[in-house]
Amino acid sequence: MWKLLLVLCVCAAPLSAAYKILVVSPVPGKSHTILGDGFVRNLLNAGHEVTYITAFPVENPPARLHQVNVSDNIKYFPVDLVNIKKLIDDKGEQPSLSVFFGIIEQQARNTVSNENVQRLMRDPKQNFDAVIVEWFFSEVFTGFGSVFGCPMILFSSVEPHWMVLQWIDGLPNPAYTVDIQSTGTAPLGFLARAKELFNQVAGLLFKSLYFEAIENKIYEENFRPAAEARGRTLTPLNVQRYNISLMLGNSHVSLGEATRLPQSYKPIGGYHIDPDLKPLSKELKNIIESSKDGVIYFSMGSNLKSKDWPVEIKQDLLKMFSGLKQTVLWKFEEDLPNLPKNVHILKWAPQPTILAHPNTKLFITHGGLLSTTETIHFGVPIIGIPAFADQFVNVDRAVGKGFAKRVDLSYDIAQELKGAIEELLTNPSYTERVKELSLIYHDRPAPPARELVHWVEHVVKTRGAPHLRSPALLVPWYQKVYLDLAVVVFSVLAAIYIGLKRLCCSKKGEKTSAKQKKN
Ligand SMILES: *[C@@H]1O[C@H](CO)[C@@H](O)[C@H](O)[C@H]1NC(C)=O
Ligand SMILES: *[C@@H]1O[C@H](CO)[C@@H](O)[C@H](O)[C@H]1NC(C)=O
Repeated sequence: MWKLLLVLCVCAAPLSAAYKILVVSPVPGKSHTILGDGFVRNLLNAGHEVTYITAFPVENPPARLHQVNVSDNIKYFPVDLVNIKKLIDDKGEQPSLSVFFGIIEQQARNTVSNENVQRLMRDPKQNFDAVIVEWFFSEVFTGFGSVFGCPMILFSSVEPHWMVLQWIDGLPNPAYTVDIQSTGTAPLGFLARAKELFNQVAGLLFKSLYFEAIENKIYEENFRPAAEARGRTLTPLNVQRYNISLMLGNSHVSLGEATRLPQSYKPIGGYHIDPDLKPLSKELKNIIESSKDGVIYFSMGSNLKSKDWPVEIKQDLLKMFSGLKQTVLWKFEEDLPNLPKNVHILKWAPQPTILAHPNTKLFITHGGLLSTTETIHFGVPIIGIPAFADQFVNVDRAVGKGFAKRVDLSYDIAQELKGAIEELLTNPSYTERVKELSLIYHDRPAPPARELVHWVEHVVKTRGAPHLRSPALLVPWYQKVYLDLAVVVFSVLAAIYIGLKRLCCSKKGEKTSAKQKKN
């Protein structure tokens, strides 16, 4: 009997270490979902049980994965902002702040008011050891941590910047830590430094005077009743947004800057890349391996739809590609007529596997963060054609690091692309540089996916990792800049000055009155 018990105990041991984790990644964009899927895959592989709030649930999910379907969010995907023809005609003009934050607001409200999400929150059987939420220009989703009464892990999808660092440490110095939309690198010139300060102050004012009230309303209307249904009191948003155990960042020093970071920030850039590469189809493998001058891989990601490309540009590109010695793999969702011999259209492409192939010499990309990360992971130089969002910053950063050239969307793109391709294929410095960065990227104590699992488990084991919290969170800003001390010093100096002045006046007065007496 005791032997049976022992066997049972041993079998149960790994199960007891499994945690229940809620992953909240409801942004209805493919790249955000790839990042969310990366969390889910790695946590499942480590034996944990994951509940996943996602806009792209899969059929027949693996065991231990419970999906909460918020595919309804897709209706708030800004299709207009990723129409390539419109982007060319608007010459890279970005949406206004109010349009952008309007989208953030709709996505946030639609997620937390979604009936599947409300059902999850109100189900008393649902409990979690930790909640991981993606920060996407709002902290509304930190409410999940308060509703379930468990530690909060915030996930930041880009390099660290002031908008996220303020919740776990404090505002970084804008003189050398630039804004999320800025491509400046230290040392900044006078005007650039002034602009960074202005951006930070303007952003803070926008948030506190306008957006915070909207966030608060969404938070209170959707989380408070759910928390009360569970018999809990909701922590106010203004407290909860600072109650973050850990921030996991899709960043790495090889991809960005050596930014000063608090202990509660862990960079795990590259964790989304599955080390088990999907195999190439036989046909694709053949094409790549028989290209003796190498392969150029061209993909503008999944958001820019091929049907929106102006016809003349498609034709110019095909003509230009036909003059190259290399094979061009073009990820495009439609068949193109009169395809040159060296151009192959792929409706779906196993991007990491293609980039990993030694025959791939060059990647022409929109410069999304996932693509630039994969570029460094596999060491392939790029031509960046930024179209929207953070792509401009990513491409400019890659150019600054020396492994990329930038080409802008325009009706002359084929001509410009031709020059850039020639430069990248003949000047070896781009490839050398990307290989150097790739070495830095891979030379870590542990692969990023293992770090992800380690830190999530660490937060659960240590009940919210309070030891990682930055002491800066306890200090109000005026104390950080010693404004209170300045007031004290100034008051003392002023008091001394006034005192001395009085003393000396009254002495003078005595003297004059003495003089007057004499006279
Ligand atoms: C998610 O919800 C949508 C809309 O209700 C539905 O069409 C889709 O099949 C659902 N997906 C899964 C995997 O259940
Ligand atoms: C902050 O989060 C921890 C869990 O990490 C929780 O125990 C604590 O009650 C929270 N604090 C507030 C004020 O809600």
